[in-house]
Amino acid sequence: MKYVLENTDVTRMETPCLVIGVFENASLLQSAERIDEACSGALQDLIGSGDIDREWKSATLLHGLEGVAAKRVLVMGCGETEKFSRERYDEVCHAAGTFLRKHAVDAAHVCLNELPAGESSAHWRLRQAALTLDRANYRYTATKAPKKSEHEPLRGASFQAPAELGAALTEASGFARGYLRARELGNLPPNICTPAYLAEQAASIAAAYDNASVEILEPAQMEELKMSALLAVGRGSHHPPRLIVLRYRGADEEQPPVVLVGKGITFDTGGISLKAGANMEQMKYDMGGAASVIGAFEACAEMQLPINLVTIVAAAENMPDGNAYRPGDVITSMSGKTIEILNTDAEGRLVLCDALTYSQRFEPAALIDVATLTGACVVALGHHASAVMSKHDDLAEALVQAGSDAIDRGWRLPLWDDYQGQLKSIFADMKNVGGMPAGSITAGCFLSRFTEGQYWAHIDCAGSTWKWGHDKGSTGRPVGLLTQFLVNRCRQPAA
Ligand code: BES
Ligand code: MN
Ligand code: ZN
Repeated sequence: MKYVLENTDVTRMETPCLVIGVFENASLLQSAERIDEACSGALQDLIGSGDIDREWKSATLLHGLEGVAAKRVLVMGCGETEKFSRERYDEVCHAAGTFLRKHAVDAAHVCLNELPAGESSAHWRLRQAALTLDRANYRYTATKAPKKSEHEPLRGASFQAPAELGAALTEASGFARGYLRARELGNLPPNICTPAYLAEQAASIAAAYDNASVEILEPAQMEELKMSALLAVGRGSHHPPRLIVLRYRGADEEQPPVVLVGKGITFDTGGISLKAGANMEQMKYDMGGAASVIGAFEACAEMQLPINLVTIVAAAENMPDGNAYRPGDVITSMSGKTIEILNTDAEGRLVLCDALTYSQRFEPAALIDVATLTGACVVALGHHASAVMSKHDDLAEALVQAGSDAIDRGWRLPLWDDYQGQLKSIFADMKNVGGMPAGSITAGCFLSRFTEGQYWAHIDCAGSTWKWGHDKGSTGRPVGLLTQFLVNRCRQPAA
């Protein structure tokens, strides 16, 4: 979507649609006030007569307001002023985007960023409005015939803001691109989105930026590197695994990079420990972690952030087959540590442990892995937050803060050593499952054994990356959290 800034008299804007917000108490902000004046109080009259709903997230479309150049005015209800938080603001923007998407409006002039949303800056409100409008206009079409009845999505939006705020729109475009990439990858079916496909997509992103590059490792190279855990998971599939390494250079070569590692299971049947049939098709999104680190990489490159970034994806398909790995197997990971397999459905941690060992050659300034790792995470946090785990309080806090800034929340779970005992094995250095209690944490504990000495955090996005129900599909999360983390790091040079 194209964004521009316009700092003009809103009543003179010749646009298919003006978008404004109104609070329950009917106090009008700048643009709304100007419109009301221009139409001789018609807006206040409509509010008075109850024709404009001011309840939070409601939408009322007005046509041909006298004295206003715009064809339509979309009035978004904002509810009570005291309750109007940054989160509520974001949802109003989303509701406006959804409304515009459903109606035949292909361009709009948006004034929502004037709404006082919690503790927010003008920069943030503008960025979030542009980004959220873009996200609300997403439709999955890749494997569907075009619908004749379908309206075109919003082509572009202008925002009522001064030119100094231009950087907010650049940021919005970067975030939007990252989200779009992650969402599309998450929604694509597993017969299209294979490990090789993920690698191709990564390569095409790298090709688009002069300071980005890609390296794709195939099974033969993984053998050489002794990545037996990653290879074991992929062994039952006809789509061989890939280790994808994207590199972006936005700062001095000597500056150690942030390294993001993503779980890229393009389909998770559970392997020999086969999953139940119901909803198994949803396991195509078991590459949501990979999609989000690729998306964050693209966002970073798009914004040309002044940092160095390495994104690593461990891509494989977990299938049952005569050649598949089995419960009882003992595997020697790249690190040299041995793992007793008790359940082949705990495959994410296996592909990640080798990717995490590999990642250490980049001497990361911070190492973060992102994975749809456990069903237990969905039980604990539902779809509202990603789980953030780290032994480094400041890193965990920076990630939770970034999630809050981007309205893509993360919530911390502990990684205390008390849980490590659950991974004890009689036949190997560890088991790949820790039993029922604290399933998300013991998965994190497993990974911690491969990141010793690293400034490392683990993000479980099993609940946040996908929506269930009637509007089911990929959310693109946690691209926002990750990208914001990178942006924040550029603002305050890390300790
Ligand atoms: N990909 C799943 C986790 C998952 C489940 C993500 C539901 C999103 C929704 C993962 O590979 C898995 O199967 N985990 C097992 C681990 C168990 C065997 C220790 C789980 O959560 O049941
Ligand atoms: Mn699994
Ligand atoms: Zn999985």
